[in-house]
Amino acid sequence: MNLSVLPGMAGQVRLVEASMPPPPCSGEVLVRMLRAPVNPADLLAIDGRYSFDLGPELPLGAEGTAMVETVGEGVTDLSPGDKVLLLSRGNWCRYRCVRRSHLIALPPDKDMTQAAMLRINPPTARLLLQATGAGPGDIIVQNGAASMVATWVRALAAPIGISVINVVRRAAGALPDALVDGDDLADRVKMLAAGRPVSAALDCVAGTATGRMAECLAPGGRLILFGHLSGEPISVRSQMLTGGGLSISGFSLRPAEAAMGGDAMQVMFSELMAFHLRSGIIFPVRDILPLSQAQTAIAQARLGGRGRVLLDLTQ
Ligand SMILES: NC(=O)c1ccc[n+]([C@@H]2O[C@H](COP(=O)([O-])OP(=O)(O)OC[C@H]3O[C@@H](n4cnc5c(N)ncnc54)[C@H](OP(=O)(O)O)[C@@H]3O)[C@@H](O)[C@H]2O)c1
Repeated sequence: MNLSVLPGMAGQVRLVEASMPPPPCSGEVLVRMLRAPVNPADLLAIDGRYSFDLGPELPLGAEGTAMVETVGEGVTDLSPGDKVLLLSRGNWCRYRCVRRSHLIALPPDKDMTQAAMLRINPPTARLLLQATGAGPGDIIVQNGAASMVATWVRALAAPIGISVINVVRRAAGALPDALVDGDDLADRVKMLAAGRPVSAALDCVAGTATGRMAECLAPGGRLILFGHLSGEPISVRSQMLTGGGLSISGFSLRPAEAAMGGDAMQVMFSELMAFHLRSGIIFPVRDILPLSQAQTAIAQARLGGRGRVLLDLTQ
């Protein structure tokens, strides 16, 4: 049987035993799922607060790694036993049958736990950086700076020569130079920028944090909102838009990728995989729990703290 974790009522999930997917049709691949993290976006989906309606019958799980079981007609570049990263949602299950174009082939020696955390955050960071319009010598500011996305933003910005000012909600041991968010944030950011303009802000917190991030920007600055960690509506001094030329836009990975097209996405992923290998970035793992204990894993992830909680989809 194929155990799946589906959204339930009011912040709950349902564990459902479904039948195995049918053998793959032409252009499809049947995979056995291996690992999947519990991400902030999964918690939003469980709570019914995600930006898109994912439907009640699609398994949860924005990310996941798997091993190829069988390939359908016409799939010539993957074989049983190959390791893959899933591009589509619906990964909290034991088996999936997906289009070949929804898979990224991984090297045989790739760590499948670390790889399971590469679907969302690296491309998000890359496309966010692109959306800032920042280039060599520019300065940007980001909040939620201890997060995985923010770690990727720093890693990808450094070789381009973009300086990143980091903002956290509380002092973070791993980021001793980060600024702790507060009413005088803009003054401290401007001091750190030493008279140079801060051209863009990446905001994943929303609420009043958005207003504080906006105040850090030079006239004409861009604020990109891509998360809702505070759970509050954004609040920004309106004169920043009328007099300060501030522009505010939202970012969501999947529509941004859809606009790129499949070939460009495959190229982006091969570049990001190569970057990941060179960078040696390793994300801390707090726990790995069996799929059958998804409720416990979700409760642990809700507590926050250092390291990702993952599901072992084989158990
Ligand atoms: N729009 C998109 O397409 C997209 C794609 C990927 C991620 N995201 C968003 O990006 C954000 C980061 O994701 P991630 O997976 O990188 O996160 P993560 O690694 O799980 O880290 C979350 C971080 O957010 C901080 N945080 C939690 N609640 C907060 C609050 N109320 N105020 C300020 N900081 C808070 C935590 O701080 P502490 O260390 O102090 O606990 C933690 O460092 C999330 O909002 C996620 O939904 C959006």
